[in-house]
Amino acid sequence: MAGLGVNIDHVATVRQARRTYEPDPVWAAVEATLGGADGITFHLREDRRHINDRDAELLKRTVTIKLNMEMSIARPIVNIAARLRPDQCTLVPERREELTTEGGLDVVRLRRRIKPVVERLRGEGIEISAFIEPIAEQIEASAEVGCHAVELWTGGYAHAKGKRGVERELKRLADGIEVGRRAGLLVHAGHGLTYSNIGPVTALGGFSEFNIGHSIISRAVFVGIREAVRQMKALV
Ligand code: PXP
Repeated sequence: MAGLGVNIDHVATVRQARRTYEPDPVWAAVEATLGGADGITFHLREDRRHINDRDAELLKRTVTIKLNMEMSIARPIVNIAARLRPDQCTLVPERREELTTEGGLDVVRLRRRIKPVVERLRGEGIEISAFIEPIAEQIEASAEVGCHAVELWTGGYAHAKGKRGVERELKRLADGIEVGRRAGLLVHAGHGLTYSNIGPVTALGGFSEFNIGHSIISRAVFVGIREAVRQMKALV
């Protein structure tokens, strides 16, 4: 059975809209845990637009399930991750002007910069995943630089138009699972997954973890985090 990682960044986004103390993403992590989440995911961005250093510290000290830190490969962030030692680090691309993480990390082009980051974090006992597009070369390069896992970007699937477009993206994901398995990697999925589009993705089999944020937190506005997580957990 695949694990559900709940991304709590959006709770911090609401807090930062007023630069106040509520809602607290650390409370959200507790609620998600009580709802049956298998992991808590957060992204400490270089510009600290939502999750901040205090959140990261408290999450590390309080979360009792798998803690997954999404991060760029910038040195100050890598230093924090090495000190914090979450269970897993997911390397993502990061651009200041983007609304959210767009597309995957280009491991093929950046392999010489990524490899020492992976080695350093692995040395701290952290599992490493790379958030990449479902492209064979990117998956193989992730294995070569020493990742334990890849998280396949599901944005292409989530944004696909028409039956044929959706089928084409599902095929890319299925092929990605196969390439990842052959390379000895665990294969995760994330981005743009919702209550209504997750079914065909779980039906592919082979994904070991789903990281979902926006859809769960959106539903939580109406039903609460615990219930929103419980409902998503039933689908994965
Ligand atoms: N996985 C990764 C690597 C991400 O960067 C994000 C977005 O922060 C997610 C999963 C969650 O995406 P969404 O909020 O669209 O569910």
